[in-house]
Amino acid sequence: MTLTDNASDAARDSEICTHAFEEHERYEGAIAPPIYQTSLFTFPTLERFTEVMRDERSHFVYSRGLNPTVKLLEDKLAALERGEMAKAFASGMGAISATMMTLLDQGDHVLLVNQAYGPTRQLLEQMARFGVSFSETGGSRGEVETALRDDTRLIYIESPSSMRMALADLDGIAELARSRGVLTAIDNTWATPLYQKPLTHGIDLTLHTLSKYIGGHSDLVGGVVVGRRELVAPIFEHGHQLLGAALSPHSAFLALRGLRTLPIRMRQHQANVLEVIRYLATQPSVAGLHHPCLATGEPAAWAERQLSGHAGLLSFEIVDPSYVRIAGFIDTLRVFRIGVSWGGYESLAISQRQPDDTGPALIRLAIGLEDVQSLLDDLERAFRTLQ
Ligand SMILES: Cc1ncc(COP(=O)(O)O)c(C=O)c1O
Repeated sequence: MTLTDNASDAARDSEICTHAFEEHERYEGAIAPPIYQTSLFTFPTLERFTEVMRDERSHFVYSRGLNPTVKLLEDKLAALERGEMAKAFASGMGAISATMMTLLDQGDHVLLVNQAYGPTRQLLEQMARFGVSFSETGGSRGEVETALRDDTRLIYIESPSSMRMALADLDGIAELARSRGVLTAIDNTWATPLYQKPLTHGIDLTLHTLSKYIGGHSDLVGGVVVGRRELVAPIFEHGHQLLGAALSPHSAFLALRGLRTLPIRMRQHQANVLEVIRYLATQPSVAGLHHPCLATGEPAAWAERQLSGHAGLLSFEIVDPSYVRIAGFIDTLRVFRIGVSWGGYESLAISQRQPDDTGPALIRLAIGLEDVQSLLDDLERAFRTLQ
């Protein structure tokens, strides 16, 4: 099925999440695309095999390269991000490490914008062994301009970031980077491709862990990188093929199933999170609340320009954030479960507070799809422990 050119963004996205690129006549009419659970593909003659091997990256040869179920997911994700090409990986970290390993050379510097996901930062710490350095800065064009170095090869952004939900000025940073010949990449997991399309703001590459909203049911781990063919093709050739973090056909099928309901799930996450934020804002024990819908000043203008919706991940601080108080709060929750990750149907709560820590500490909530009143009742019970 082909895409209608003049559909609105939301209608186009809905078509991509549901029917686009699916060829049911090839699947015996099956409405759910089959899982091509095969490691290799065979050919009728050696002549055909020889021909195919001359262009292996465009043909189904071996599932560490291309697989039809994974390819369908890649085509949909490329279209959702308005990119030319997508390559899927066995995890978000698979996508991030393949991208870094392909794009960076000895002597290159990476500028991290906003607090990057911990393992992304750890990967760059490891890459110091290969002569790659990094530093960190905030999300305004001015901050990035000050932090840029002559050897900066890549600006790697998280916006919104996944602990403080910090924002960055995508248009400003992309324009600056282009003028300096520096590549830009963003971890777009928080917003999903439905609520933010960084490539349309001039960013070169957009990455996701599929393990969050795209999978949507907390039953798969996967990742993807999307962008212009000239950038993604080498990531496929080197970072994907040689590091080998290939997404399994079964996980690709689960992600395809997740995409079918992504638009309606995101609407529900948004409705629920806005209710929860309204409630948290009335709590005297809440000392600071972090979510892009609360942005003020310049970040509010970026949010307005870049985000077309709100995901369910937020964080907040409490008054007197001792470990005992935070543990008492989180342990009282019954509907919210305690666990890492986010983006599934279930609401989750965590804190990185350690028993001996002092100073501010965040409680992070992933607002799921449960009835919002049950979430508010659960929070109310937990806040009583803080009074
Ligand atoms: C913002 C963000 N990016 C990347 C990742 C890594 O993805 P994965 O766990 O699929 O490797 C995570 C995982 O929690 C994440 O939260």
